[in-house]
Amino acid sequence: MLYSDNLSISPENHLLIGSHDAVALAREFGTPLYVLDEDTMRRNCRKYRDLLRENYPGQSLALFASKALCTLHTARITAEEGLGADAVSGGEIYTLHAAGFPMEKVFFHGNNKTLEEIALAMDCGTGYFVVDNAEELRRVNAAARARNKVQPILFRVKPGIDCHTHEYIKTGQIDSKFGVALETGEAFEIHKTAAALPNVRVEGVHCHIGSQIFEIDPFCEAVRRVMALIASLRDSLGMEARILNLGGGIGIRYGTQDDPPPLADYICQVTAAIQEEARRLGLSLPLLVLEPGRAIVGPAGVTLYTVGSVKNIPGVRTYVAVDGGMTDNPRYILYGARHPALVANRAGDPPVRAVTIAGKCCESGDLIAEGMPLQAVQPGDILAVLVTGAYNYSMASNYNRLPRPAMIALREDEKKLIVRRESYEDIIRNDIL
Ligand code: LLP
Repeated sequence: MLYSDNLSISPENHLLIGSHDAVALAREFGTPLYVLDEDTMRRNCRKYRDLLRENYPGQSLALFASKALCTLHTARITAEEGLGADAVSGGEIYTLHAAGFPMEKVFFHGNNKTLEEIALAMDCGTGYFVVDNAEELRRVNAAARARNKVQPILFRVKPGIDCHTHEYIKTGQIDSKFGVALETGEAFEIHKTAAALPNVRVEGVHCHIGSQIFEIDPFCEAVRRVMALIASLRDSLGMEARILNLGGGIGIRYGTQDDPPPLADYICQVTAAIQEEARRLGLSLPLLVLEPGRAIVGPAGVTLYTVGSVKNIPGVRTYVAVDGGMTDNPRYILYGARHPALVANRAGDPPVRAVTIAGKCCESGDLIAEGMPLQAVQPGDILAVLVTGAYNYSMASNYNRLPRPAMIALREDEKKLIVRRESYEDIIRNDIL
Protein backbone atom coordinates (compact mmCIF):
# COMPACT_ATOMS: atom_id res chain seq x y z
CA MET A 1 0.00 0.00 0.00
CA LEU A 2 1.73 3.15 -1.15
CA TYR A 3 -0.73 5.91 -0.29
CA SER A 4 -1.25 7.23 -3.78
CA ASP A 5 -1.87 5.89 -7.33
CA ASN A 6 1.22 7.55 -8.79
CA LEU A 7 3.59 5.69 -6.47
CA SER A 8 4.78 2.12 -6.88
CA ILE A 9 7.79 -0.09 -6.31
CA SER A 10 10.34 -1.05 -8.97
CA PRO A 11 11.82 -4.53 -9.43
CA GLU A 12 14.95 -3.19 -7.62
CA ASN A 13 12.73 -2.41 -4.63
CA HIS A 14 12.98 1.35 -5.24
CA LEU A 15 10.20 3.88 -4.93
CA LEU A 16 8.81 4.86 -8.32
CA ILE A 17 7.14 8.25 -8.76
CA GLY A 18 5.17 7.78 -11.95
CA SER A 19 7.75 5.92 -14.04
CA HIS A 20 10.76 7.56 -12.37
CA ASP A 21 13.07 5.85 -9.90
CA ALA A 22 13.25 8.11 -6.83
CA VAL A 23 16.74 6.92 -5.93
CA ALA A 24 18.04 7.78 -9.41
CA LEU A 25 16.39 11.20 -9.19
CA ALA A 26 18.08 11.84 -5.85
CA ARG A 27 21.40 10.83 -7.36
CA GLU A 28 20.95 13.01 -10.44
CA PHE A 29 19.60 16.18 -8.81
CA GLY A 30 20.96 15.89 -5.26
CA THR A 31 19.02 16.10 -2.01
CA PRO A 32 16.95 17.50 -0.43
CA LEU A 33 14.84 17.51 -3.57
CA TYR A 34 11.23 18.48 -4.11
CA VAL A 35 9.67 16.26 -6.75
CA LEU A 36 6.47 17.43 -8.38
CA ASP A 37 4.54 14.81 -10.28
CA GLU A 38 3.13 17.12 -12.90
CA ASP A 39 0.80 14.44 -14.26
CA THR A 40 -0.90 14.19 -10.87
CA MET A 41 -1.22 17.95 -10.58
CA ARG A 42 -2.75 18.17 -14.06
CA ARG A 43 -5.10 15.26 -13.32
CA ASN A 44 -6.34 17.03 -10.21
CA CYS A 45 -6.90 20.28 -12.12
CA ARG A 46 -8.99 18.38 -14.67
CA LYS A 47 -10.89 16.55 -11.96
CA TYR A 48 -12.02 19.88 -10.50
CA ARG A 49 -12.95 21.28 -13.87
CA ASP A 50 -14.88 18.15 -14.89
CA LEU A 51 -16.69 17.74 -11.58
CA LEU A 52 -17.82 21.35 -11.66
CA ARG A 53 -19.02 20.97 -15.22
CA GLU A 54 -20.89 17.74 -14.45
CA ASN A 55 -22.53 18.92 -11.26
CA TYR A 56 -23.29 22.57 -11.74
CA PRO A 57 -25.56 23.91 -14.47
CA GLY A 58 -24.34 27.48 -13.95
CA GLN A 59 -20.94 28.84 -14.93
CA SER A 60 -17.98 27.84 -12.81
CA LEU A 61 -14.26 28.35 -12.47
CA ALA A 62 -11.72 26.56 -10.32
CA LEU A 63 -8.75 28.63 -9.20
CA PHE A 64 -5.52 27.08 -8.03
CA ALA A 65 -4.54 28.63 -4.71
CA SER A 66 -1.00 29.80 -5.46
CA LYS A 67 -0.06 29.87 -1.77
CA ALA A 68 0.05 26.06 -1.84
CA LEU A 69 2.84 26.09 -4.44
CA CYS A 70 3.84 29.09 -6.48
CA THR A 71 6.48 28.83 -9.19
CA LEU A 72 6.61 29.91 -12.82
CA HIS A 73 6.17 26.32 -13.91
CA THR A 74 3.13 25.60 -11.72
CA ALA A 75 1.56 28.86 -12.90
CA ARG A 76 2.00 27.66 -16.47
CA ILE A 77 0.46 24.26 -15.68
CA THR A 78 -2.49 26.00 -14.03
CA ALA A 79 -3.05 28.20 -17.07
CA GLU A 80 -2.70 25.31 -19.51
CA GLU A 81 -5.29 23.33 -17.59
CA GLY A 82 -7.73 26.21 -17.84
CA LEU A 83 -7.84 27.11 -14.14
CA GLY A 84 -7.70 30.61 -12.74
CA ALA A 85 -5.49 31.48 -9.78
CA ASP A 86 -5.81 32.86 -6.30
CA ALA A 87 -2.91 35.10 -5.28
CA VAL A 88 -2.30 36.55 -1.86
CA SER A 89 0.71 38.82 -2.18
CA GLY A 90 2.66 40.99 -4.56
CA GLY A 91 5.13 38.13 -4.92
CA GLU A 92 2.46 35.71 -6.08
CA ILE A 93 0.96 38.30 -8.43
CA TYR A 94 4.43 39.00 -9.81
CA THR A 95 5.11 35.28 -10.35
CA LEU A 96 1.81 34.68 -12.14
CA HIS A 97 2.32 37.71 -14.34
CA ALA A 98 5.92 36.72 -15.13
CA ALA A 99 4.68 33.26 -16.14
CA GLY A 100 2.30 34.86 -18.65
CA PHE A 101 -0.76 33.83 -16.65
CA PRO A 102 -4.09 35.25 -17.87
CA MET A 103 -4.39 37.89 -15.15
CA GLU A 104 -8.11 38.42 -15.76
CA LYS A 105 -8.58 35.00 -14.13
CA VAL A 106 -6.72 36.00 -10.95
CA PHE A 107 -8.41 36.77 -7.63
CA PHE A 108 -6.20 38.85 -5.35
CA HIS A 109 -6.61 38.00 -1.66
CA GLY A 110 -4.93 39.08 1.55
CA ASN A 111 -5.96 40.79 4.76
CA ASN A 112 -3.44 43.59 4.51
CA LYS A 113 -2.57 44.38 0.92
CA THR A 114 -0.05 47.20 0.82
CA LEU A 115 -0.40 50.19 -1.46
CA GLU A 116 2.47 48.83 -3.56
CA GLU A 117 0.79 45.45 -3.89
CA ILE A 118 -2.51 47.04 -4.85
CA ALA A 119 -0.76 49.13 -7.49
CA LEU A 120 1.19 46.15 -8.85
CA ALA A 121 -1.90 43.95 -9.06
CA MET A 122 -3.93 46.67 -10.75
CA ASP A 123 -1.20 47.47 -13.24
CA CYS A 124 -0.89 43.77 -14.08
CA GLY A 125 -4.60 43.68 -14.93
CA THR A 126 -5.64 41.42 -12.06
CA GLY A 127 -9.27 40.46 -12.64
CA TYR A 128 -10.70 40.63 -9.14
CA PHE A 129 -9.67 42.04 -5.81
CA VAL A 130 -11.05 40.18 -2.82
CA VAL A 131 -11.31 43.11 -0.45
CA ASP A 132 -10.80 42.34 3.23
CA ASN A 133 -11.85 45.47 5.10
CA ALA A 134 -13.03 49.08 4.90
CA GLU A 135 -9.56 50.62 4.81
CA GLU A 136 -8.61 48.40 1.93
CA LEU A 137 -11.82 49.26 0.11
CA ARG A 138 -10.82 52.91 0.32
CA ARG A 139 -7.34 52.11 -0.97
CA VAL A 140 -8.54 49.98 -3.87
CA ASN A 141 -11.09 52.59 -4.90
CA ALA A 142 -8.39 55.30 -4.79
CA ALA A 143 -5.93 53.21 -6.81
CA ALA A 144 -8.62 52.50 -9.42
CA ARG A 145 -9.57 56.18 -9.53
CA ALA A 146 -5.94 57.13 -10.11
CA ARG A 147 -5.96 54.76 -13.10
CA ASN A 148 -9.32 55.94 -14.30
CA LYS A 149 -10.84 52.48 -14.08
CA VAL A 150 -13.52 50.56 -12.26
CA GLN A 151 -12.04 47.59 -10.40
CA PRO A 152 -14.19 44.47 -9.99
CA ILE A 153 -14.18 43.38 -6.35
CA LEU A 154 -15.65 40.82 -3.98
CA PHE A 155 -15.66 41.14 -0.24
CA ARG A 156 -14.24 38.44 1.95
CA VAL A 157 -17.00 37.50 4.33
CA LYS A 158 -16.56 35.37 7.43
CA PRO A 159 -19.76 33.41 7.66
CA GLY A 160 -19.50 32.54 11.36
CA ILE A 161 -18.62 28.90 10.87
CA ASP A 162 -16.24 27.17 13.21
CA CYS A 163 -15.11 23.99 11.46
CA HIS A 164 -13.05 21.14 12.83
CA THR A 165 -9.48 21.65 11.76
CA HIS A 166 -6.23 22.93 13.24
CA GLU A 167 -6.62 26.27 15.07
CA TYR A 168 -4.05 27.92 12.83
CA ILE A 169 -5.92 27.18 9.60
CA LYS A 170 -9.50 28.03 10.66
CA THR A 171 -10.80 31.19 9.06
CA GLY A 172 -14.60 31.13 8.97
CA GLN A 173 -15.31 32.10 12.60
CA ILE A 174 -15.87 35.65 13.84
CA ASP A 175 -12.57 35.67 15.73
CA SER A 176 -10.46 35.66 12.57
CA LYS A 177 -8.14 38.28 11.15
CA PHE A 178 -9.70 37.73 7.72
CA GLY A 179 -12.69 39.50 6.27
CA VAL A 180 -15.88 41.11 7.49
CA ALA A 181 -18.40 39.39 9.74
CA LEU A 182 -21.84 38.39 8.59
CA GLU A 183 -23.58 38.10 11.92
CA THR A 184 -22.74 41.61 13.16
CA GLY A 185 -24.00 43.31 9.99
CA GLU A 186 -20.46 44.40 9.14
CA ALA A 187 -20.60 42.54 5.81
CA PHE A 188 -23.83 44.22 4.76
CA GLU A 189 -22.55 47.66 5.76
CA ILE A 190 -19.34 47.41 3.75
CA HIS A 191 -21.33 46.47 0.64
CA LYS A 192 -23.46 49.56 1.21
CA THR A 193 -20.30 51.69 1.41
CA ALA A 194 -18.96 50.13 -1.79
CA ALA A 195 -22.20 50.79 -3.66
CA ALA A 196 -21.51 54.51 -3.29
CA LEU A 197 -17.92 54.34 -4.58
CA PRO A 198 -17.45 55.08 -8.28
CA ASN A 199 -14.24 53.14 -8.93
CA VAL A 200 -15.11 49.70 -7.59
CA ARG A 201 -17.85 47.36 -8.69
CA VAL A 202 -19.01 44.55 -6.43
CA GLU A 203 -19.09 41.39 -8.53
CA GLY A 204 -19.66 38.80 -5.86
CA VAL A 205 -18.99 37.48 -2.39
CA HIS A 206 -16.09 35.39 -1.16
CA CYS A 207 -15.68 33.17 1.87
CA HIS A 208 -13.10 30.60 2.90
CA ILE A 209 -13.85 28.72 6.09
CA GLY A 210 -10.50 27.02 6.63
CA SER A 211 -8.18 24.35 5.32
CA GLN A 212 -7.82 20.54 5.59
CA ILE A 213 -11.54 20.15 6.38
CA PHE A 214 -13.08 16.68 6.27
CA GLU A 215 -16.76 17.54 6.62
CA ILE A 216 -18.91 18.79 3.77
CA ASP A 217 -21.69 20.27 5.92
CA PRO A 218 -19.74 23.41 6.96
CA PHE A 219 -19.26 24.26 3.28
CA CYS A 220 -23.01 23.82 2.63
CA GLU A 221 -23.80 25.94 5.66
CA ALA A 222 -21.45 28.63 4.31
CA VAL A 223 -23.36 28.48 1.01
CA ARG A 224 -26.68 29.04 2.82
CA ARG A 225 -25.35 31.99 4.80
CA VAL A 226 -23.60 33.69 1.91
CA MET A 227 -26.52 33.16 -0.47
CA ALA A 228 -28.76 34.81 2.14
CA LEU A 229 -26.39 37.79 2.12
CA ILE A 230 -26.49 37.91 -1.69
CA ALA A 231 -30.31 37.97 -1.54
CA SER A 232 -30.32 40.76 1.00
CA LEU A 233 -27.87 42.79 -1.09
CA ARG A 234 -30.27 42.45 -4.00
CA ASP A 235 -33.36 43.26 -1.94
CA SER A 236 -31.97 46.17 0.09
CA LEU A 237 -29.32 47.67 -2.18
CA GLY A 238 -30.35 46.50 -5.63
CA MET A 239 -26.85 45.07 -5.88
CA GLU A 240 -26.26 42.06 -8.09
CA ALA A 241 -23.46 39.88 -6.70
CA ARG A 242 -23.12 37.36 -9.50
CA ILE A 243 -20.05 35.47 -8.25
CA LEU A 244 -20.04 33.08 -5.33
CA ASN A 245 -16.46 32.27 -4.40
CA LEU A 246 -16.40 29.53 -1.75
CA GLY A 247 -12.64 29.43 -1.23
CA GLY A 248 -10.70 26.20 -0.87
CA GLY A 249 -10.25 23.97 2.11
CA ILE A 250 -11.35 20.44 1.33
CA GLY A 251 -9.04 18.05 3.15
CA ILE A 252 -6.75 15.42 1.64
CA ARG A 253 -5.36 12.15 2.90
CA TYR A 254 -1.84 12.38 4.22
CA GLY A 255 -1.87 8.99 5.88
CA THR A 256 -4.11 6.34 7.38
CA GLN A 257 -5.27 8.76 10.08
CA ASP A 258 -7.11 10.87 7.49
CA ASP A 259 -10.47 10.09 5.95
CA PRO A 260 -11.50 12.95 3.67
CA PRO A 261 -14.70 12.70 1.64
CA PRO A 262 -14.36 12.00 -2.09
CA LEU A 263 -14.01 15.19 -4.11
CA ALA A 264 -17.08 14.22 -6.12
CA ASP A 265 -19.23 14.18 -2.95
CA TYR A 266 -17.95 17.59 -1.89
CA ILE A 267 -18.66 19.18 -5.26
CA CYS A 268 -21.99 17.41 -5.67
CA GLN A 269 -23.28 18.48 -2.24
CA VAL A 270 -21.99 22.04 -2.42
CA THR A 271 -23.44 22.62 -5.89
CA ALA A 272 -26.75 21.08 -4.79
CA ALA A 273 -26.88 23.47 -1.84
CA ILE A 274 -26.29 26.44 -4.14
CA GLN A 275 -29.03 25.37 -6.53
CA GLU A 276 -31.47 24.81 -3.68
CA GLU A 277 -30.75 28.22 -2.12
CA ALA A 278 -30.96 29.98 -5.47
CA ARG A 279 -34.39 28.43 -6.05
CA ARG A 280 -35.58 29.26 -2.56
CA LEU A 281 -34.39 32.87 -2.70
CA GLY A 282 -35.31 33.49 -6.34
CA LEU A 283 -31.70 34.20 -7.32
CA SER A 284 -30.15 33.24 -10.61
CA LEU A 285 -27.34 30.70 -10.30
CA PRO A 286 -24.13 32.50 -9.39
CA LEU A 287 -20.87 31.95 -11.19
CA LEU A 288 -19.32 29.45 -8.80
CA VAL A 289 -15.63 29.84 -7.99
CA LEU A 290 -13.64 27.34 -5.89
CA GLU A 291 -10.05 27.84 -4.78
CA PRO A 292 -8.42 24.48 -4.08
CA GLY A 293 -4.75 24.46 -3.20
CA ARG A 294 -3.88 21.34 -1.23
CA ALA A 295 -6.29 19.13 -3.17
CA ILE A 296 -4.61 20.03 -6.46
CA VAL A 297 -0.99 19.81 -5.56
CA GLY A 298 -0.55 18.09 -2.17
CA PRO A 299 -0.55 14.50 -3.44
CA ALA A 300 1.64 15.51 -6.40
CA GLY A 301 4.69 16.17 -4.21
CA VAL A 302 7.40 13.94 -2.74
CA THR A 303 10.48 15.22 -0.93
CA LEU A 304 13.67 13.18 -1.13
CA TYR A 305 16.37 13.39 1.52
CA THR A 306 19.62 11.61 2.24
CA VAL A 307 19.87 10.02 5.66
CA GLY A 308 22.88 11.27 7.60
CA SER A 309 22.94 9.77 11.06
CA VAL A 310 20.78 7.16 12.73
CA LYS A 311 20.89 7.65 16.48
CA ASN A 312 19.33 4.95 18.60
CA ILE A 313 18.80 6.02 22.20
CA PRO A 314 17.97 2.73 23.97
CA GLY A 315 14.62 2.81 25.70
CA VAL A 316 13.94 6.30 24.37
CA ARG A 317 13.72 6.55 20.57
CA THR A 318 15.62 6.37 17.31
CA TYR A 319 16.41 9.61 15.53
CA VAL A 320 16.87 9.37 11.78
CA ALA A 321 18.49 12.65 10.70
CA VAL A 322 18.06 13.90 7.14
CA ASP A 323 19.73 16.68 5.15
CA GLY A 324 16.68 18.99 5.27
CA GLY A 325 14.03 19.60 7.89
CA MET A 326 11.71 22.35 9.09
CA THR A 327 13.29 24.66 6.52
CA ASP A 328 11.77 22.70 3.63
CA ASN A 329 8.80 21.20 5.50
CA PRO A 330 7.65 23.15 8.57
CA ARG A 331 4.28 21.37 8.70
CA TYR A 332 5.09 19.01 11.58
CA ILE A 333 6.47 21.74 13.77
CA LEU A 334 3.55 24.04 12.91
CA TYR A 335 0.56 21.70 12.85
CA GLY A 336 1.79 18.28 13.94
CA ALA A 337 1.10 17.20 10.36
CA ARG A 338 1.67 13.52 9.61
CA HIS A 339 3.30 13.04 6.21
CA PRO A 340 4.09 9.39 5.46
CA ALA A 341 7.73 8.46 4.93
CA LEU A 342 9.61 5.48 3.57
CA VAL A 343 13.13 4.43 2.64
CA ALA A 344 13.12 4.90 -1.12
CA ASN A 345 15.90 2.40 -1.79
CA ARG A 346 14.10 -0.29 0.25
CA ALA A 347 10.59 0.79 -0.57
CA GLY A 348 8.87 -2.60 -0.59
CA ASP A 349 10.32 -3.81 2.73
CA PRO A 350 8.05 -3.86 5.75
CA PRO A 351 8.66 -1.30 8.49
CA VAL A 352 10.83 -2.61 11.31
CA ARG A 353 10.36 0.09 13.94
CA ALA A 354 8.87 3.48 14.64
CA VAL A 355 11.38 6.30 14.37
CA THR A 356 11.63 10.05 14.73
CA ILE A 357 12.71 11.79 11.56
CA ALA A 358 14.79 14.81 12.46
CA GLY A 359 16.01 17.70 10.36
CA LYS A 360 19.44 19.31 10.50
CA CYS A 361 18.45 22.64 12.04
CA CYS A 362 19.81 23.78 15.35
CA GLU A 363 16.50 23.33 17.11
CA SER A 364 15.08 20.29 18.98
CA GLY A 365 11.64 20.85 17.51
CA ASP A 366 13.03 20.47 14.00
CA LEU A 367 11.28 17.19 13.28
CA ILE A 368 9.49 15.90 10.23
CA ALA A 369 7.76 13.01 11.94
CA GLU A 370 7.55 11.13 15.22
CA GLY A 371 6.45 7.55 15.73
CA MET A 372 6.85 6.91 12.00
CA PRO A 373 7.01 3.19 11.11
CA LEU A 374 10.04 2.85 8.87
CA GLN A 375 12.02 0.15 7.09
CA ALA A 376 15.54 -0.67 8.24
CA VAL A 377 17.52 2.50 7.66
CA GLN A 378 21.17 3.47 7.56
CA PRO A 379 23.31 6.48 6.63
CA GLY A 380 23.29 7.12 2.89
CA ASP A 381 19.76 5.81 2.36
CA ILE A 382 17.26 7.96 0.49
CA LEU A 383 14.24 8.88 2.56
CA ALA A 384 11.05 9.86 0.77
CA VAL A 385 8.45 11.99 2.55
CA LEU A 386 5.13 11.88 0.74
CA VAL A 387 2.27 14.26 -0.02
CA THR A 388 4.52 17.30 0.25
CA GLY A 389 3.31 19.18 -2.82
CA ALA A 390 1.29 21.75 -0.89
CA TYR A 391 2.64 24.22 1.67
CA ASN A 392 6.15 22.79 1.77
CA TYR A 393 8.21 24.71 -0.79
CA SER A 394 5.85 27.66 -0.38
CA MET A 395 6.58 27.82 3.36
CA ALA A 396 10.28 27.00 3.11
CA SER A 397 12.83 29.23 4.82
CA ASN A 398 16.57 29.79 5.02
CA TYR A 399 16.76 29.20 8.78
CA ASN A 400 20.34 28.40 9.76
CA ARG A 401 21.20 29.71 6.28
CA LEU A 402 20.22 26.45 4.68
CA PRO A 403 19.73 26.88 0.93
CA ARG A 404 16.24 25.97 -0.30
CA PRO A 405 16.14 22.67 -2.21
CA ALA A 406 15.71 22.30 -5.95
CA MET A 407 12.41 21.22 -7.46
CA ILE A 408 11.89 19.00 -10.45
CA ALA A 409 8.72 18.24 -12.39
CA LEU A 410 7.98 14.80 -13.80
CA ARG A 411 5.80 14.30 -16.82
CA GLU A 412 5.45 10.80 -18.23
CA ASP A 413 9.03 9.87 -19.11
CA GLU A 414 10.33 13.42 -18.91
CA LYS A 415 11.89 15.24 -16.00
CA LYS A 416 12.69 18.88 -15.75
CA LEU A 417 14.40 21.11 -13.23
CA ILE A 418 11.84 23.84 -12.42
CA VAL A 419 13.44 25.53 -9.41
CA ARG A 420 17.21 25.64 -9.05
CA ARG A 421 18.76 24.67 -5.74
CA GLU A 422 19.76 27.80 -3.85
CA SER A 423 23.46 28.39 -3.58
CA TYR A 424 25.44 29.98 -0.78
CA GLU A 425 25.79 33.01 -3.08
CA ASP A 426 21.99 33.20 -3.15
CA ILE A 427 22.01 33.14 0.63
CA ILE A 428 24.18 36.26 0.92
CA ARG A 429 22.79 38.00 -2.18
CA ASN A 430 21.01 40.74 -0.28
CA ASP A 431 23.53 41.18 2.50
CA ILE A 432 25.54 44.38 2.54
CA LEU A 433 28.98 44.38 4.12
N1 LLP B 1 -8.51 30.35 -0.60
C1 LLP B 1 -8.13 31.08 0.45
C2 LLP B 1 -8.67 32.44 0.60
C3 LLP B 1 -7.23 30.57 1.38
O1 LLP B 1 -6.88 31.31 2.42
C4 LLP B 1 -6.70 29.27 1.20
C5 LLP B 1 -5.73 28.73 2.14
C6 LLP B 1 -7.10 28.54 0.07
C7 LLP B 1 -8.02 29.11 -0.80
C8 LLP B 1 -6.59 27.16 -0.23
O2 LLP B 1 -6.91 26.27 0.77
P1 LLP B 1 -6.65 24.69 0.57
O3 LLP B 1 -7.56 24.21 -0.53
O4 LLP B 1 -5.24 24.52 0.21
O5 LLP B 1 -6.98 24.10 1.89
N2 LLP B 1 -0.10 26.41 5.55
C9 LLP B 1 -1.24 25.59 5.92
C10 LLP B 1 -2.45 25.90 5.09
C11 LLP B 1 -2.86 27.34 5.11
C12 LLP B 1 -4.01 27.61 4.21
C13 LLP B 1 -4.20 29.07 4.00
N3 LLP B 1 -5.24 29.39 3.12
C14 LLP B 1 -0.86 24.12 5.85
O6 LLP B 1 0.29 23.80 5.58
O7 LLP B 1 -1.69 23.26 6.12
